[in-house]
Amino acid sequence: MKRGRPAALRCLLLLRAPALLLLLRAAAVQGDCGPLPVVPRAHPASASAGSTSFPENTTVLYTCDQGFVKIPGKPDAVVCISSRWTDIEEFCNRSCEVPPRLPYAILKSAYISKNYFPVDTVVEYECRPGYRKKYPIQSGKITCRDDLTWSTPAEFCEKKQCPNPGELVNGNINVTTDLLLGSQIFFSCDPGYRLTGEASAFCMIKGNAVGWSSSLPTCIKIICPEPPQIENGRIVNEEDTYEYRHVVTYECNKGFVLTGKSHISCIVRDDVGEWSDPPPTCRVKSPPVIPPQKPTTTSAPGTTTTLPTQKPTTVNTAGPEVPTTQRSTTVNVPAAGNRPDTRTTIKSTTASEEKDLASGYRTFLYANMRHMRTKNPMLYVIT
Ligand SMILES: *[C@@H]1O[C@H](CO)[C@@H](O)[C@H](O)[C@H]1NC(C)=O
Ligand SMILES: *[C@@H]1O[C@H](CO)[C@@H](O)[C@H](O)[C@H]1NC(C)=O
Ligand SMILES: *[C@@H]1O[C@H](CO)[C@@H](O)[C@H](O)[C@H]1NC(C)=O
Repeated sequence: MKRGRPAALRCLLLLRAPALLLLLRAAAVQGDCGPLPVVPRAHPASASAGSTSFPENTTVLYTCDQGFVKIPGKPDAVVCISSRWTDIEEFCNRSCEVPPRLPYAILKSAYISKNYFPVDTVVEYECRPGYRKKYPIQSGKITCRDDLTWSTPAEFCEKKQCPNPGELVNGNINVTTDLLLGSQIFFSCDPGYRLTGEASAFCMIKGNAVGWSSSLPTCIKIICPEPPQIENGRIVNEEDTYEYRHVVTYECNKGFVLTGKSHISCIVRDDVGEWSDPPPTCRVKSPPVIPPQKPTTTSAPGTTTTLPTQKPTTVNTAGPEVPTTQRSTTVNVPAAGNRPDTRTTIKSTTASEEKDLASGYRTFLYANMRHMRTKNPMLYVIT
């Protein structure tokens, strides 16, 4: 029988407390519980909190008042059983907020899931990964003070330092701040070297320690392609490889004239080696040329005439080895009578030519016409 047990209980109570029995009887007749018990620092959560009569088996949940926190493990509800509310004791208390988050430390696991921190509670931190305890070791503990604030934590941890990155051969490592956790270092290669790998690295957490996000790059020597061979000429002192700044010198075979730059150098553009200029060309020497119309402007005796910027292609030569069958469409041998005087001087006028001459690389040598026979002024080019 369902009623068996309460009846037995009543019999038991009957023997010991007749007055209580009377009370219970009265309640049982009504079949409900009266007003809810008052719990300090808490209030009933249900909407029927104001009621004065509750049916059997009703459960009413309590919530802590503003500013109080539930004490873990303590009941926070009452149930109407046999016309009586079950017991409930104070289950709310003052508490500090959840301990502050620290950049260098985390709460020890024992405190992580808690949210009840009454006055005088002590919680302990441990250094975050990538940090280590400072010396002298300071406390990683804080206390909930009477005003419900936490004591100020000591900065008892410091960043770990990444290992020295070492040396970058043919390059440079730029340490902008330090080598501590979170720092970044930058790599660069010397001129003429190409960086292969990462251009920077971070000091980051690696397992239990800290380490660089990437290994050192390498600086690879930049090589120019083979310099082009030229017809009727050659490269002086040919090498196997040509590095940055290496200069290649061309010269023409006998009887040929060099046009363009006799020296080209290995330069680097966008990490790729290339030649500073196209290679020169070698052309067959031609018989001497003085354009027929020119002498009219230079025939005045005693004047000095400088020919316009001469490119070697327009320079005419008179060498015994030059075959007379050379293309001579532009070659004109002026009549000797057009040049009464010999004070005509021909200079090389381009900057590069003068530089070549000055630097000791003899490319062109212009003979002063003064030293030549009056009757046949000519310009010589000696290669
Ligand atoms: C109260 O709950 C008990 C156990 O669940 C049950 O036996 C009883 O019938 C309930 N009483 C009422 C009035 O619902
Ligand atoms: C409430 O907190 C105070 C301070 O920590 C403590 O002394 C007291 O026992 C707590 N009350 C309860 C009911 O736990
Ligand atoms: C290092 O890097 C900083 C910032 O990028 C720069 O200002 C500085 O010139 C660099 N130093 C060297 C030696 O490369």
